[in-house]
Amino acid sequence: METNAPKRRDNKKSLRVKVISLGNAEVGKSCIIKRYCEKRFVPKYLATIGIDYGVTKVQVRDREIKVNIFDMAGHPFFYEVRNTRLLLWCLLLWCLLLWCLLLWCHLSSSVVSQVRNEFYKDSQGVLLVYDVGLRESFDALDSWLGEMKQEMGSQANMDSIVFIVCANKVDLTKRRVVDEGEGRLWAESRGFHYFETSAQSGEGINEMFQAFFSSITDMCENGGKRPATEVSVGFTKEQADTIRRIRNSKDSWDMLGVKPGATREEVNKAYRKLAVLLHPDKCVAPGSEDAFKAVVNARTSLLKNIK
Ligand code: GTP
Ligand code: MG
Repeated sequence: METNAPKRRDNKKSLRVKVISLGNAEVGKSCIIKRYCEKRFVPKYLATIGIDYGVTKVQVRDREIKVNIFDMAGHPFFYEVRNTRLLLWCLLLWCLLLWCLLLWCHLSSSVVSQVRNEFYKDSQGVLLVYDVGLRESFDALDSWLGEMKQEMGSQANMDSIVFIVCANKVDLTKRRVVDEGEGRLWAESRGFHYFETSAQSGEGINEMFQAFFSSITDMCENGGKRPATEVSVGFTKEQADTIRRIRNSKDSWDMLGVKPGATREEVNKAYRKLAVLLHPDKCVAPGSEDAFKAVVNARTSLLKNIK
């Protein structure tokens, strides 16, 4: 079986690991990495083309970690074609048009032209980034994860990776639409770490990377398996996903998961199922109390109008 076990160098105390960044375009992936590695913020948007690659060294306890960072473009264009021959052709065309980008293109294309799973393969850590002011970037985390799962082939490979969710741009408080509870719920229900970050102010960045590298080191020392303690959050993924679905539902029918025009029995049956799942005595997931109340209200209002 293929594992993501890191490559050890001769010195037993040093490790070489690969981390990748995933998330929609413009959520701040490159700025987060730049803020940590170069201690600076770039306000101007410079879209990543294909994949940017960098190396940094960090110290975790008594170990030196050499981190290879693959910062991925989030733009849908690259989502569709980043690992196909078309991208290679695009990059080659680019090389012809812009000679000064020749070296960069050469280095990038050797990475991007590999098949899609080559990019994910052998990763020990994934930074999943969304912008707290853009709901679609949060909703897209599922598809980023889905794509990765598909390419990794088996759940066993996914279990050998440390995931960190970055709720980025928290400095822009007025435009925030995804609150901490919602982000944390999504992350922790999957056994992922959750951090609120701002590449602009630096908030949360060092803490996030320290936790990230420390967890990767723990995982490596645990034989390449994510330690089980990290996933014990006290609630299930089903509960977390249901709370999220309820929060995003358009009306009472949708909230209970029944078709408009459903009978009293159907409404009650759906209600009972949700009540068992979300009752505050049984569910400790953040937001469960509000979700439970919303379900009670939805049922009451629907039953009022059903003969
Ligand atoms: P792609 O490379 O296209 O996938 O985008 P990206 O996710 O790497 O985004 P990038 O880091 O290039 O940042 C996009 C824009 O958001 C830039 O204009 C940044 O200056 C801005 N930005 C990034 N992080 C923050 C942040 O924490 N706060 C604020 N206010 N702006 C940010
Ligand atoms: Mg980028």
